[in-house]
Amino acid sequence: KARISAAVFSSHVPAIGAAIDQGKTQQDYWKPLFAGYDLSRQWLREHRPDVILLVYNDHATAFSLEMIPTFAIGTAAQFQPADEGWGPRPVPPVIGHPELAAHIAQSVIQQDFDLTIVNKMDVDHGLTVPLSLMCGQPLAWPCPVIPFAVNVVQYPVPSGRRCYQLGQAIRRAIESYDADLNVQIWGTGGMSHQLQGPRAGLINKEFDNAFLDQLITDPEAAASIPHIDYVREAGSEGIELVMWLIARGAMSDVARGATPDAAADGATGRPPKVVHRFYHVPASNTAVGHLILENP
Ligand code: DHB
Ligand code: FE
Repeated sequence: KARISAAVFSSHVPAIGAAIDQGKTQQDYWKPLFAGYDLSRQWLREHRPDVILLVYNDHATAFSLEMIPTFAIGTAAQFQPADEGWGPRPVPPVIGHPELAAHIAQSVIQQDFDLTIVNKMDVDHGLTVPLSLMCGQPLAWPCPVIPFAVNVVQYPVPSGRRCYQLGQAIRRAIESYDADLNVQIWGTGGMSHQLQGPRAGLINKEFDNAFLDQLITDPEAAASIPHIDYVREAGSEGIELVMWLIARGAMSDVARGATPDAAADGATGRPPKVVHRFYHVPASNTAVGHLILENP
């Protein structure tokens, strides 16, 4: 059977991708940020999964005001790096896993979450920058990656609670896939940042670190944070953090509530192991947070 072995959480910023692509990672501004991912690159080499389910957001790149799926799963065999205005990033194409992606779509939709099926899509910095941070500059990404896009750009956006529950459904989907696959789920975006308006540049270290604490030890509480608190405390783009709750909700300690199903879902209640925790301010306009959690 397939299983989720670990969750990885990381912010994304286009300038991080540019710094990598232009060989600037050792410059004074960037060095401390990339140093925070040294351990992570080593860990990923030692804990290479068979597939990564990468939860991220598209930034009006593949989608636009013409079409806005709340939750979309990439079922294609390949996804090309998008041109976001300066040409596509010089990174490898993303090789998908159509069979597992189709299974997740089937299972999650039957669990009452409406996913959009995407058979053709370019992937923007929301997906490629976390891959670059975790993998460096390989000729090919280390394994197939299933893109899972969440709308956090155009209102209305999904609640943290809904994202958390979706994570629970994704775990059930993966664990019902009949092949011996080691799957990692990545939750990306955030942490606090606001790119626009009078509060542009907002960073909130206290909120971010409380969120990291809660995400690790009390994900239920993190899932209860109302939408307005993200916007007030973490800024208008801080809402990207709800994507972290999808990955956290898919971890093995999380029960699906006080239902007879909880035991059947095999929730262990045993907390994940914190392999790595890192926080750095700023990268461009964003507070960068990063966590690696392993299922026991
Ligand atoms: C920045 C951060 C983002 O999340 C994004 O999508 C674009 C830009 C920034 O801090 O520059
Ligand atoms: Fe973003």
